[in-house]
Amino acid sequence: MTAASPSTPAEIAELLAFYASAGVDDALEDTPINRFAEPAARPAERAPAAPRRDPRPESRPAPEQALGQVKPPERPTPSSGLDASNIPDAPARMPAAAAVPDEAQAAAARQLAARATTLDELRRHMAAFDGCNLKFTAKNLVFADGNPNADLMLVGEAPGRDEDLEGLPFVGRSGRLLDRMLAAIGLDRSSAYIANVIPWRPPGNRTPTPHETEICRPFIERQIELVNPKVLVNLGGPSAKTLLNTTEGILRLRGNWRVHTTASGIAIPAMPTLHPAYLLRSPAHKKLAWRDFLEVKAKLKDWVSHNLRGN
Ligand code: URA
Repeated sequence: MTAASPSTPAEIAELLAFYASAGVDDALEDTPINRFAEPAARPAERAPAAPRRDPRPESRPAPEQALGQVKPPERPTPSSGLDASNIPDAPARMPAAAAVPDEAQAAAARQLAARATTLDELRRHMAAFDGCNLKFTAKNLVFADGNPNADLMLVGEAPGRDEDLEGLPFVGRSGRLLDRMLAAIGLDRSSAYIANVIPWRPPGNRTPTPHETEICRPFIERQIELVNPKVLVNLGGPSAKTLLNTTEGILRLRGNWRVHTTASGIAIPAMPTLHPAYLLRSPAHKKLAWRDFLEVKAKLKDWVSHNLRGN
Protein backbone atom coordinates (compact mmCIF):
# COMPACT_ATOMS: atom_id res chain seq x y z
CA MET A 1 0.00 0.00 0.00
CA THR A 2 1.31 3.47 -0.80
CA ALA A 3 1.17 6.54 1.45
CA ALA A 4 -1.43 8.12 -0.84
CA SER A 5 -5.14 7.40 -0.42
CA PRO A 6 -6.00 3.93 -1.64
CA SER A 7 -7.75 3.95 -4.99
CA THR A 8 -7.87 0.40 -6.34
CA PRO A 9 -10.23 -2.19 -4.83
CA ALA A 10 -7.18 -4.19 -3.65
CA GLU A 11 -5.72 -1.15 -1.83
CA ILE A 12 -9.07 -0.31 -0.26
CA ALA A 13 -9.50 -3.94 0.88
CA GLU A 14 -6.00 -3.86 2.35
CA LEU A 15 -6.73 -0.64 4.25
CA LEU A 16 -10.03 -2.00 5.59
CA ALA A 17 -8.28 -5.20 6.69
CA PHE A 18 -5.73 -3.03 8.52
CA TYR A 19 -8.51 -1.10 10.26
CA ALA A 20 -10.28 -4.34 11.23
CA SER A 21 -7.09 -5.82 12.67
CA ALA A 22 -6.59 -2.60 14.66
CA GLY A 23 -10.10 -2.95 16.10
CA VAL A 24 -11.62 -0.10 14.08
CA ASP A 25 -14.94 -1.54 13.05
CA ASP A 26 -17.38 1.28 13.53
CA ALA A 27 -17.94 4.32 11.31
CA LEU A 28 -18.98 7.18 13.57
CA GLU A 29 -20.17 9.56 10.86
CA ASP A 30 -22.13 8.91 7.68
CA THR A 31 -19.66 10.99 5.71
CA PRO A 32 -15.93 10.27 5.98
CA ILE A 33 -13.77 13.21 7.05
CA ASN A 34 -10.29 13.60 5.61
CA ARG A 35 -8.53 15.05 8.65
CA PHE A 36 -5.34 15.64 6.69
CA ALA A 37 -7.19 17.94 4.28
CA GLU A 38 -8.74 20.07 7.01
CA PRO A 39 -7.27 23.47 7.83
CA ALA A 40 -5.63 23.65 11.24
CA ALA A 41 -8.69 25.28 12.70
CA ARG A 42 -9.78 24.90 16.29
CA PRO A 43 -12.52 22.29 16.53
CA ALA A 44 -15.15 24.88 17.46
CA GLU A 45 -14.45 26.82 14.26
CA ARG A 46 -15.09 23.88 11.97
CA ALA A 47 -18.25 23.62 9.95
CA PRO A 48 -20.81 21.56 11.84
CA ALA A 49 -20.64 17.88 10.94
CA ALA A 50 -23.66 15.79 10.03
CA PRO A 51 -25.84 15.20 13.08
CA ARG A 52 -24.80 12.13 15.01
CA ARG A 53 -27.17 9.24 15.11
CA ASP A 54 -28.72 9.08 18.56
CA PRO A 55 -28.03 5.52 19.63
CA ARG A 56 -31.08 5.50 21.86
CA PRO A 57 -34.21 4.50 19.98
CA GLU A 58 -37.05 6.97 20.43
CA SER A 59 -39.16 4.30 22.02
CA ARG A 60 -36.71 3.44 24.78
CA PRO A 61 -38.02 4.81 28.07
CA ALA A 62 -35.77 7.01 30.17
CA PRO A 63 -34.24 4.90 32.92
CA GLU A 64 -36.23 6.60 35.63
CA GLN A 65 -39.43 5.77 33.72
CA ALA A 66 -38.37 2.20 33.15
CA LEU A 67 -37.27 1.64 36.70
CA GLY A 68 -39.67 3.61 38.76
CA GLN A 69 -37.60 5.82 40.99
CA VAL A 70 -33.90 6.07 40.37
CA LYS A 71 -33.30 9.40 38.74
CA PRO A 72 -30.02 9.41 36.90
CA PRO A 73 -27.85 12.41 37.59
CA GLU A 74 -28.39 15.51 35.53
CA ARG A 75 -26.41 15.88 32.34
CA PRO A 76 -23.88 18.68 32.76
CA THR A 77 -25.18 22.13 32.04
CA PRO A 78 -23.07 25.11 31.02
CA SER A 79 -23.30 26.42 34.57
CA SER A 80 -21.94 23.15 35.95
CA GLY A 81 -18.61 23.95 34.38
CA LEU A 82 -18.57 20.64 32.55
CA ASP A 83 -19.90 21.85 29.24
CA ALA A 84 -17.54 20.96 26.39
CA SER A 85 -17.42 24.58 25.23
CA ASN A 86 -15.82 25.55 28.57
CA ILE A 87 -12.89 23.24 27.99
CA PRO A 88 -10.12 24.59 25.77
CA ASP A 89 -9.69 22.44 22.68
CA ALA A 90 -12.62 20.20 23.63
CA PRO A 91 -14.60 18.77 20.71
CA ALA A 92 -17.23 21.22 19.51
CA ARG A 93 -20.02 18.88 20.43
CA MET A 94 -20.46 15.98 22.80
CA PRO A 95 -22.53 12.98 21.73
CA ALA A 96 -26.06 13.87 22.73
CA ALA A 97 -26.62 10.60 24.56
CA ALA A 98 -23.25 10.25 26.21
CA ALA A 99 -23.21 10.36 29.98
CA VAL A 100 -20.41 11.95 31.93
CA PRO A 101 -18.76 9.28 34.04
CA ASP A 102 -18.77 10.47 37.62
CA GLU A 103 -19.54 9.37 41.13
CA ALA A 104 -23.24 10.14 40.66
CA GLN A 105 -23.45 7.58 37.86
CA ALA A 106 -21.72 5.00 40.02
CA ALA A 107 -24.16 5.80 42.83
CA ALA A 108 -27.11 5.32 40.45
CA ALA A 109 -25.62 1.98 39.35
CA ARG A 110 -25.25 0.92 42.97
CA GLN A 111 -28.88 1.71 43.71
CA LEU A 112 -30.12 -0.15 40.66
CA ALA A 113 -27.93 -3.16 41.26
CA ALA A 114 -28.96 -3.42 44.91
CA ARG A 115 -32.59 -3.29 43.91
CA ALA A 116 -32.35 -6.34 41.61
CA THR A 117 -33.53 -9.48 43.34
CA THR A 118 -33.07 -11.83 40.37
CA LEU A 119 -30.62 -12.07 37.49
CA ASP A 120 -33.41 -11.23 35.04
CA GLU A 121 -34.18 -8.07 36.96
CA LEU A 122 -30.52 -7.17 37.06
CA ARG A 123 -30.23 -7.64 33.31
CA ARG A 124 -33.27 -5.40 32.75
CA HIS A 125 -31.87 -2.71 35.05
CA MET A 126 -28.55 -2.81 33.25
CA ALA A 127 -30.21 -2.64 29.84
CA ALA A 128 -32.11 0.48 30.94
CA PHE A 129 -29.11 2.14 32.60
CA ASP A 130 -27.71 5.08 30.62
CA GLY A 131 -24.93 6.09 33.01
CA CYS A 132 -22.02 4.43 31.22
CA ASN A 133 -20.74 5.90 27.96
CA LEU A 134 -19.71 2.48 26.68
CA LYS A 135 -23.34 1.58 26.20
CA PHE A 136 -23.67 4.11 23.40
CA THR A 137 -20.94 2.68 21.21
CA ALA A 138 -21.71 -0.97 21.95
CA LYS A 139 -24.15 -2.96 19.86
CA ASN A 140 -25.37 -5.18 22.67
CA LEU A 141 -25.39 -5.61 26.40
CA VAL A 142 -23.20 -8.64 27.11
CA PHE A 143 -24.76 -9.92 30.31
CA ALA A 144 -23.73 -13.56 30.77
CA ASP A 145 -23.58 -17.05 29.35
CA GLY A 146 -23.77 -20.47 30.92
CA ASN A 147 -25.67 -21.89 33.84
CA PRO A 148 -26.66 -19.46 36.61
CA ASN A 149 -27.01 -22.43 38.98
CA ALA A 150 -23.44 -23.59 38.39
CA ASP A 151 -20.95 -23.93 41.24
CA LEU A 152 -18.32 -22.09 39.19
CA MET A 153 -18.49 -18.49 37.95
CA LEU A 154 -15.80 -16.96 35.73
CA VAL A 155 -15.45 -13.21 35.26
CA GLY A 156 -13.47 -11.60 32.44
CA GLU A 157 -12.73 -7.96 31.68
CA ALA A 158 -14.97 -6.67 28.89
CA PRO A 159 -16.52 -7.96 25.67
CA GLY A 160 -14.65 -7.77 22.40
CA ARG A 161 -16.02 -7.47 18.90
CA ASP A 162 -17.47 -10.99 18.58
CA GLU A 163 -19.05 -10.80 22.02
CA ASP A 164 -20.58 -7.41 21.21
CA LEU A 165 -22.08 -8.77 18.00
CA GLU A 166 -23.53 -11.86 19.66
CA GLY A 167 -24.39 -10.34 23.03
CA LEU A 168 -22.59 -13.21 24.80
CA PRO A 169 -19.29 -13.28 26.69
CA PHE A 170 -16.24 -15.17 25.46
CA VAL A 171 -17.47 -16.33 22.06
CA GLY A 172 -14.44 -15.17 20.04
CA ARG A 173 -10.95 -16.67 19.89
CA SER A 174 -10.26 -16.30 23.59
CA GLY A 175 -13.68 -17.78 24.31
CA ARG A 176 -12.79 -20.87 22.31
CA LEU A 177 -9.63 -21.24 24.37
CA LEU A 178 -11.65 -20.73 27.57
CA ASP A 179 -14.00 -23.55 26.46
CA ARG A 180 -10.97 -25.83 26.05
CA MET A 181 -9.65 -24.81 29.49
CA LEU A 182 -13.04 -25.65 31.03
CA ALA A 183 -13.18 -28.96 29.14
CA ALA A 184 -9.75 -29.82 30.56
CA ILE A 185 -11.29 -29.89 34.05
CA GLY A 186 -14.47 -31.63 32.89
CA LEU A 187 -16.68 -28.55 32.65
CA ASP A 188 -18.49 -26.63 29.94
CA ARG A 189 -20.99 -23.78 29.71
CA SER A 190 -23.73 -25.94 31.19
CA SER A 191 -21.66 -26.31 34.36
CA ALA A 192 -20.17 -22.82 34.58
CA TYR A 193 -21.50 -19.26 34.49
CA ILE A 194 -19.52 -16.58 32.62
CA ALA A 195 -19.70 -12.78 32.79
CA ASN A 196 -17.48 -9.71 32.55
CA VAL A 197 -16.68 -6.77 34.82
CA ILE A 198 -17.76 -4.44 32.00
CA PRO A 199 -20.88 -5.53 30.10
CA TRP A 200 -20.45 -3.23 27.08
CA ARG A 201 -17.64 -3.42 24.55
CA PRO A 202 -15.18 -0.52 24.82
CA PRO A 203 -14.73 0.99 21.34
CA GLY A 204 -11.81 -0.53 19.46
CA ASN A 205 -11.31 -2.91 22.44
CA ARG A 206 -9.57 -0.18 24.37
CA THR A 207 -8.96 -0.68 28.08
CA PRO A 208 -11.95 0.49 30.12
CA THR A 209 -11.20 3.63 32.11
CA PRO A 210 -11.17 3.49 35.93
CA HIS A 211 -14.38 5.57 35.89
CA GLU A 212 -16.12 3.12 33.58
CA THR A 213 -15.01 0.27 35.79
CA GLU A 214 -16.31 1.99 38.92
CA ILE A 215 -19.65 2.65 37.25
CA CYS A 216 -20.02 -0.99 36.16
CA ARG A 217 -18.61 -2.54 39.33
CA PRO A 218 -21.92 -2.62 41.29
CA PHE A 219 -23.55 -4.62 38.49
CA ILE A 220 -20.97 -7.40 38.39
CA GLU A 221 -20.79 -7.47 42.18
CA ARG A 222 -24.55 -7.93 42.38
CA GLN A 223 -24.43 -10.51 39.60
CA ILE A 224 -21.91 -12.55 41.61
CA GLU A 225 -24.04 -12.18 44.71
CA LEU A 226 -27.17 -13.38 42.91
CA VAL A 227 -25.40 -16.35 41.29
CA ASN A 228 -23.69 -17.12 44.60
CA PRO A 229 -21.13 -19.53 43.10
CA LYS A 230 -19.05 -21.84 45.25
CA VAL A 231 -15.91 -20.77 43.42
CA LEU A 232 -15.07 -17.63 41.45
CA VAL A 233 -12.38 -17.44 38.77
CA ASN A 234 -10.98 -14.04 37.83
CA LEU A 235 -9.81 -14.14 34.24
CA GLY A 236 -7.00 -11.61 33.98
CA GLY A 237 -5.71 -8.67 36.00
CA PRO A 238 -8.61 -6.22 35.56
CA SER A 239 -11.15 -8.75 36.87
CA ALA A 240 -8.89 -9.71 39.77
CA LYS A 241 -8.09 -6.11 40.70
CA THR A 242 -11.70 -4.99 40.51
CA LEU A 243 -13.24 -7.87 42.41
CA LEU A 244 -10.49 -8.77 44.86
CA ASN A 245 -9.67 -5.24 45.93
CA THR A 246 -5.99 -5.39 45.15
CA THR A 247 -3.51 -3.53 43.02
CA GLU A 248 -1.13 -6.49 42.62
CA GLY A 249 -0.35 -7.67 39.10
CA ILE A 250 -1.90 -10.86 37.77
CA LEU A 251 1.40 -12.70 37.49
CA ARG A 252 1.82 -12.34 41.24
CA LEU A 253 -1.83 -12.92 42.08
CA ARG A 254 -2.50 -15.97 39.96
CA GLY A 255 -2.46 -19.40 41.50
CA ASN A 256 -3.24 -18.17 45.02
CA TRP A 257 -6.66 -18.42 46.57
CA ARG A 258 -8.24 -15.10 47.51
CA VAL A 259 -11.68 -14.21 48.78
CA HIS A 260 -14.36 -12.14 47.11
CA THR A 261 -16.75 -10.79 49.73
CA THR A 262 -20.22 -9.83 48.58
CA ALA A 263 -22.14 -6.80 49.84
CA SER A 264 -24.16 -9.11 52.11
CA GLY A 265 -20.96 -10.56 53.57
CA ILE A 266 -20.75 -13.92 51.75
CA ALA A 267 -17.11 -14.95 51.29
CA ILE A 268 -16.49 -16.71 47.98
CA PRO A 269 -13.13 -18.38 47.30
CA ALA A 270 -11.63 -16.78 44.21
CA MET A 271 -8.80 -17.95 41.96
CA PRO A 272 -7.14 -15.26 39.86
CA THR A 273 -5.66 -16.68 36.67
CA LEU A 274 -4.31 -15.59 33.33
CA HIS A 275 -6.74 -14.26 30.74
CA PRO A 276 -7.24 -16.54 27.70
CA ALA A 277 -6.40 -13.61 25.38
CA TYR A 278 -3.05 -13.28 27.17
CA LEU A 279 -2.50 -17.02 26.83
CA LEU A 280 -3.09 -16.77 23.08
CA ARG A 281 -0.26 -14.24 22.96
CA SER A 282 1.97 -16.05 25.46
CA PRO A 283 1.25 -19.78 24.99
CA ALA A 284 4.24 -20.72 27.16
CA HIS A 285 2.17 -19.52 30.14
CA LYS A 286 -0.64 -21.97 29.48
CA LYS A 287 0.93 -24.36 31.96
CA LEU A 288 0.37 -21.78 34.72
CA ALA A 289 -3.31 -21.45 33.86
CA TRP A 290 -3.53 -25.24 33.74
CA ARG A 291 -2.23 -25.40 37.34
CA ASP A 292 -4.77 -22.77 38.41
CA PHE A 293 -7.61 -24.68 36.78
CA LEU A 294 -6.53 -27.87 38.57
CA GLU A 295 -6.77 -25.92 41.84
CA VAL A 296 -10.26 -24.86 40.88
CA LYS A 297 -11.25 -28.41 40.05
CA ALA A 298 -9.95 -29.63 43.43
CA LYS A 299 -11.77 -26.85 45.29
CA LEU A 300 -15.05 -27.69 43.56
CA LYS A 301 -14.56 -31.38 44.37
CA ASP A 302 -13.84 -30.57 48.03
CA TRP A 303 -16.94 -28.50 48.22
CA VAL A 304 -19.10 -31.29 46.78
CA SER A 305 -17.66 -34.00 49.05
CA HIS A 306 -17.93 -31.70 52.08
CA ASN A 307 -21.59 -31.19 51.32
CA LEU A 308 -22.26 -34.87 50.58
CA ARG A 309 -21.02 -35.60 54.08
CA GLY A 310 -23.80 -33.27 55.22
CA ASN A 311 -21.50 -30.64 56.72
N1 URA B 1 -12.32 -10.91 26.84
C1 URA B 1 -13.03 -10.72 27.97
O1 URA B 1 -12.48 -10.33 29.00
N2 URA B 1 -14.34 -10.97 27.92
C2 URA B 1 -14.97 -11.43 26.84
O2 URA B 1 -16.17 -11.63 26.89
C3 URA B 1 -14.20 -11.64 25.68
C4 URA B 1 -12.88 -11.37 25.69
